[in-house]
Amino acid sequence: MSAPKKLFIKTYGCQMNVYDSERMAEALGGEGYVETKSPDDADMILLNTCHIREKAAEKVYSELGRFKGLKAEKPDLKIGVAGCVAQAEGQEIMRRQPLVDLVVGPQSYHRLPEMEAKAREGEKVLDTDFPEEDKFEKLKNRPKAKRGPTAFLTVQEGCDKFCAFCVVPYTRGAEVSRPADRILREAQDLVERGVREITLLGQNVNAYHGAGANGDMTLAQLIWELDKVDGLERIRFTTSHPNDMQDDLIEAHGTCAKLMPYLHLPVQAGSDKILKRMNRAHTAESYLRLIERIRAARPDILISGDFIVGFPEETEADFQATLDLVEEVKYGTAYSFKYSTRPGTPAAERPQVDPAEADDRLQRLQALLTKQQREVQDSMVGRDVTVLFEKAGRFPGQMVGKSDYLHAVHVADCDRAIGDLARVRILSSGANSLAGALID
Ligand code: 5AD
Ligand code: SF4
Repeated sequence: MSAPKKLFIKTYGCQMNVYDSERMAEALGGEGYVETKSPDDADMILLNTCHIREKAAEKVYSELGRFKGLKAEKPDLKIGVAGCVAQAEGQEIMRRQPLVDLVVGPQSYHRLPEMEAKAREGEKVLDTDFPEEDKFEKLKNRPKAKRGPTAFLTVQEGCDKFCAFCVVPYTRGAEVSRPADRILREAQDLVERGVREITLLGQNVNAYHGAGANGDMTLAQLIWELDKVDGLERIRFTTSHPNDMQDDLIEAHGTCAKLMPYLHLPVQAGSDKILKRMNRAHTAESYLRLIERIRAARPDILISGDFIVGFPEETEADFQATLDLVEEVKYGTAYSFKYSTRPGTPAAERPQVDPAEADDRLQRLQALLTKQQREVQDSMVGRDVTVLFEKAGRFPGQMVGKSDYLHAVHVADCDRAIGDLARVRILSSGANSLAGALID
């Protein structure tokens, strides 16, 4: 038997790309590839890319440039670009960087084995179709390898919201939900391989409406089905849109014990004028009322968000409205970005904000969000939480895991194994994590 070929995958961007990279490794696993941690000994390099902001997209070209020497040394090395940059700029990638052999869009990963074979024969291959067939079904023949305690599971892909700044509806396509039985089968399989916590993924996850036994199901109904899976201890989901936050999902946060008290609910901005121009179809007030209802169902829920500053025509007063909203919500975590012009999106045509002004706003917003994040984290001290242990710590006897609220927690003198859940008393709060002790 010949030695296995080696595959190096580098993943950029969101959690769905992490999930997709696993699927690509499995698809090529069937062709005799094993994963390697270094590009130097790889027979195939895949960059799974992100197109959400300009910086993310440009990284791909600089990374590709770095492989020039490697390819010169090893003419059989195949280089592929996957993900959203592949989808958006497929032809241009081939033109700009001749060392690329293969370009594959997010909807075509199940075709990778055939594409790889063609590339091996010296062809340049590009597939950025949105095919009719279900790529997930075609990607099923995975080996039954043991896994870590946490996993992502894509339940929904694509987006129909068309926020004026966002490329996702173009790169990931229209919203499609996977049928519930396939998701449940995949969840069951993950649990059999050691997974205790599943994060359901979708660009618009709470718009989930996959086929169930009795018609379409809501995300909450899917969560209740997952709740019945023995051995699955925790369920999370991301990312949600405020307008799809249905009553049954809010209620589930109060009644489903496996559903974790953490919700990523991006608002993007606090000014109604900007929200309208972003095509968000909600106001600051409606978002705040929604948060109130969610907190009524689950008072201790940790709220996370995304923000964009410097959106076209954002004034200082508009930005102030974002700060006011943040003050009112009190976020446990948040991701904030300077607006990045994305060609082909409606906002790219609007008058842009001075970049220095946008930088200044980003700094001020991040200072406030960091302060809130720290306050929420510090408020955990003295409380008892459940921790799912994910790995050994840096010190002997120490274990590290995540609390229900997704805080990293370090526990010293910990006799528990990876994958165990335990009650932990939080003793102190550091820069990015908590420290606690097991409660007997
Ligand atoms: N510029 C800056 N941030 C963006 N996001 C999406 N598109 C852009 C853009 N053009 C942010 C949004 C979204 C997160 C995933 O990325 O906040 O929620
Ligand atoms: Fe992009 Fe808006 Fe869809 Fe989120 S809801 S993926 S920001 S278009």
